[in-house]
Amino acid sequence: MTEPSEIYYGYRINRYITGLSIGIGIAAVLLVGVSIMRTYPLWAVILSGGMVVILCIFGVFWYFTMDAATNPKTIELFKKYFGDFLRQIWDGKGKALDIGTGRGVAAITVAKQFPAAQVVGVDTWSRMWGWFGMTKEGCELNARIEKVQDRCTFTKGNALELPFEEGTFGLVVSTFAFHEIRVPDRMVLFEEVLRVLMRGGRFLILDMFPQGYGVNAVEEMVEKIEGLGAQEVIYTSLEETGIELGRLRHIKGMGFLMGKKGNNGRLE
Ligand SMILES: C[S@@+](CC[C@H](N)C(=O)[O-])C[C@H]1O[C@@H](n2cnc3c(N)ncnc32)[C@H](O)[C@@H]1O
Repeated sequence: MTEPSEIYYGYRINRYITGLSIGIGIAAVLLVGVSIMRTYPLWAVILSGGMVVILCIFGVFWYFTMDAATNPKTIELFKKYFGDFLRQIWDGKGKALDIGTGRGVAAITVAKQFPAAQVVGVDTWSRMWGWFGMTKEGCELNARIEKVQDRCTFTKGNALELPFEEGTFGLVVSTFAFHEIRVPDRMVLFEEVLRVLMRGGRFLILDMFPQGYGVNAVEEMVEKIEGLGAQEVIYTSLEETGIELGRLRHIKGMGFLMGKKGNNGRLE
């Protein structure tokens, strides 16, 4: 069997979700019509009417956010801008880690951007994400398609307990993964990021901030991360960057958080 030659990052599911919710919404509209015409009980009309409203609102929301943000053109833009950000903060010498790599998009972007870098993608790859196509095999296939398989490896592991020694990496990245990790306070993720980074190593996280970090504002979150031993922590919302990432840039708190592991702090 020949191997697929087209890069795929696991986002097609968004199109299916849009289609499904709008499709079920249309079916529910028909059901409302039939219920009225056939004088079905009031509860049947209310139930199907409610379904129409909920699914249509959800479908439209999904279409304008995730679906619009994950078409192949947007992914290309994302990779370009993510790469530009990376060039500002890292020289590309050494090892990089992508946390919650999914199907390897950020890991592969780093590997392509920095020809001397060795990159590791780590993920739990639960069954649910497998349905989205986010698997270790999918990452390895994408790395082969992009011809970076010699410098990209993918390892199963939990972001809350990364399977790496202290100070292993010069760069840690993560895209759209931190908000998926259910813990009372996501600050523990930064403890792990700073543990596996070497002194002076950089991190760049693209996600929604500061929800889930036990703070009210992003400034407070920055202070908390600096308290863990990070320096030069800067948050830039997608809105501020002007990056045209579809409607995704309107999602509250979506932005880049970058910083470096300093020489002070309790993780030193
Ligand atoms: C929305 S996807 C993003 C994937 C990829 N980074 C991207 O930008 O396409 C979230 C990813 O986080 C991973 N994930 C969730 N919880 C995790 C955990 N505790 N440790 C490592 N990865 C996790 C999921 O398996 C999934 O691949």
